[in-house]
Amino acid sequence: MSKPIETVAVCGAGGTMGAGIAIVCARAGFRTICHDVADESLDRALRQTGNFFAKSVERGKMQAADKNAVMGRLSRTTALADLADADLVIEAVFEDLGVKRALFGRLDKVCPAHTMFASNTSTLSITEIAAGSGREDRVVGLHFCLPAQLMRLIEVSPGINTSDATLRTAWAWCEKAGQLPVRTQDKPGFILNALLIPFLNDCIRAVEAGVAAPADIDTAIKGGLGYRMGPLELIDLIGLDTQVRLCEAFYPITLDPRAAAPPLLRRMVAAGLLGRKSGRGFFTYDAGKMFGA
Ligand SMILES: NC(=O)c1ccc[n+]([C@@H]2O[C@H](COP(=O)([O-])OP(=O)(O)OC[C@H]3O[C@@H](n4cnc5c(N)ncnc54)[C@H](O)[C@@H]3O)[C@@H](O)[C@H]2O)c1
Repeated sequence: MSKPIETVAVCGAGGTMGAGIAIVCARAGFRTICHDVADESLDRALRQTGNFFAKSVERGKMQAADKNAVMGRLSRTTALADLADADLVIEAVFEDLGVKRALFGRLDKVCPAHTMFASNTSTLSITEIAAGSGREDRVVGLHFCLPAQLMRLIEVSPGINTSDATLRTAWAWCEKAGQLPVRTQDKPGFILNALLIPFLNDCIRAVEAGVAAPADIDTAIKGGLGYRMGPLELIDLIGLDTQVRLCEAFYPITLDPRAAAPPLLRRMVAAGLLGRKSGRGFFTYDAGKMFGA
């Protein structure tokens, strides 16, 4: 692991989190390979990324030359073999243990021995994900916050077999990328989601019970508790389908009834209301725009 991290690959870069993580990496100066199984998702994510930086230039937060340099550091692929040059692979694929383990197992055959694997899982065990990797000592949890392109926090979680060297390298990488690392144990939901998943489900149940309209619940939480974003607006940003996956991963481990997916959430997903990414969830949006653009 003595080779410095110069190239980072992001798996699931066509998704909500992967696209934001790729921005963090490229903006910090790393050559960034955006990988996804869905070509059209990569198209959309990179188009949104271009618009995000164009807006930054328009607002005077970035020089046009810097925007071009950052975009030039991003490449894209649907072929796992193209990740052979990566020093660090960050996966942000579906919240499913089997999918993540299979991905790391395949990557182990593609990437050189020094390559470190990181998982952006919100609820699953790093130790269990690492068990399929063939390099358990070089796997670590790096849980970015939504929207990754704007939030600095990263929960850094070692699995049982993660080496001290891997943990140190991961921590130093977070700082070099301009992020704020915080160490957590390999426990379901780490810090943020252990608190957030039950809370967000409570808010959905309040809508379902007719306590108040979504906009009024959000106004109450922002106005009364000082939160910058309302919980239902946050669920729309997370993605209602992702919230179901988080519940399905988190509930069986914790058996906390508040962590079970509320029926209204499932009905909305079945109806195609996925939040911002589909243009409609608890509120309506311009589906082509990335948060902050
Ligand atoms: N959405 C959030 O608020 C949030 C926040 C923090 C962490 N996370 C975590 O990030 C991960 C992704 O969540 P998301 O909301 O971005 O999901 P998403 O559904 O928006 O995106 C997932 C992407 O992964 C791709 N994918 C699926 N299987 C793949 C594979 N085998 N190889 C490559 N790409 C693959 C999909 O095509 C899709 O583009 C999950 O582990 C989730 O728990 C999500």
